[in-house]
Amino acid sequence: MAKVKSKYVCQSCGYETARYLGKCPECGSWGSFVEEVNIPNQKPNTSALELADTYPPMRLNEIEMNSEIRMSTNISEFDRVLGGGIVQGSLVLIAGDPGIGKSTILLQTSGELCKSNKKVLYVSAEESAGQIKLRAERLQVKSDNLYIYPQTNLELIKKHIEDMMPDLVIIDSIQAIYTSQIQSSAGSVSQIRECCNSLMQIAKTKNISIIVIGHVTKEGNIAGPKVLEHMVDTVIQFEGDKYKTYRILRSIKNRFGNTSEVGIFEMGVNGLTEVINPSELFMKEYNQTQTPGSTIIVTSEGTRPLLVEIQALVGTTPYPAPRRVANGVDTGRLLQILAVLEKRIGLNLSKQDVYVNVIGGIDVNEPAADLGIALAIVTCVRDVVFDSHTAIIGEIGLSGEIRAVNHIEKRINEAQKLGFKRIIIPASNELQEDFKGIEILKVKRILEAITRGVGNDN
Ligand code: TYD
Ligand code: MG
Repeated sequence: MAKVKSKYVCQSCGYETARYLGKCPECGSWGSFVEEVNIPNQKPNTSALELADTYPPMRLNEIEMNSEIRMSTNISEFDRVLGGGIVQGSLVLIAGDPGIGKSTILLQTSGELCKSNKKVLYVSAEESAGQIKLRAERLQVKSDNLYIYPQTNLELIKKHIEDMMPDLVIIDSIQAIYTSQIQSSAGSVSQIRECCNSLMQIAKTKNISIIVIGHVTKEGNIAGPKVLEHMVDTVIQFEGDKYKTYRILRSIKNRFGNTSEVGIFEMGVNGLTEVINPSELFMKEYNQTQTPGSTIIVTSEGTRPLLVEIQALVGTTPYPAPRRVANGVDTGRLLQILAVLEKRIGLNLSKQDVYVNVIGGIDVNEPAADLGIALAIVTCVRDVVFDSHTAIIGEIGLSGEIRAVNHIEKRINEAQKLGFKRIIIPASNELQEDFKGIEILKVKRILEAITRGVGNDN
């Protein structure tokens, strides 16, 4: 009998070694190695050979262009993130924290697809058929074309996919299914890699679209492996605060469309509803609660402009070292803005605590928010209310210059749409459009932005 060999596999990056290691030499994580057993004399992967044979080498010029066929999900925010619908034969990964709403959105999507006569197989590896039925009732999903299959074994799942030939398969979730080909437990890197590989082959050879759900670990990675991200065609991240009602779908890899597109949803008692105008959502309370230290910026999520409120609080510190706390903004960025304010306009905050918060719990990770943050801090220090009809865009350079930002026209349009009468933008941004009904204030330097936006120090 052939000797059974075991190997140790890092559960966060997939690195393999013959003996146990405390620290992974590949990704540096500690205690991540798990023993896995190799089944000896494994048969060669015949389906992989078949797959390879379907596409012999061809001359580039001889390849016929048939545009990919896409299925619309009838949920426009989801379609946008996918790049215009689900591409036939593609493998999509939806990743997110537990409880964020992954099963919900995919059950809703299944329901919508079934309405347009598509056949959907929903493989539930985590919940019983009864639990899915309960959720479906709540979401008012009912259809003869939707099949629920509570199963964790990949070979059985494969068999039913081949028998049924549905238009879409949903795997809920990839961490809960296993293949009998290898012996490690469900959720281990080897299992996930093998299952994902098999699903990819089904998708490509049978031309069936497959969406898999993946959980996210405490550190925020897709549980198990980066390998999963490399294998699939599209990776969509489902984000949001569990305690807030809105959710953001963000495409982080897409072989068939734009990345960094976002779709915004609100979680309600009957599932997720699309938020067609997200800026309104983030600004709901702005006009009612105008206080010193709050400004509106126009940030950009992908190609989509979003108006959000920034709040700053500055006060004398009771601590030996003043505090710098940033929620929704990178702390390094905040420190840089404070350094520029100190050096270029002489704002001394060395004895002050500074708190900056983005309202609505979203993260603003682009430099175009700099000027809005700076003005929020300045208005708080001077205890004046910033004009509520003015929005702000601009990156601050280290010498205090205001630098150009991308998608400027879209941002101005969005501000105008929400009723803003004035907008502060970088002078170096060339405008292609001629804007009417909104005053455009072009600024070159931070001091100029403060004098014209807030007024002279008094
Ligand atoms: P779920 O889709 O089960 O999350 P995941 O699959 O990502 O783990 O959604 C779980 C949360 O959503 C749960 O806390 C309840 C909430 N929810 C609603 O608020 N309204 C609804 O209509 C549904 C179905 C769920
Ligand atoms: Mg779920």
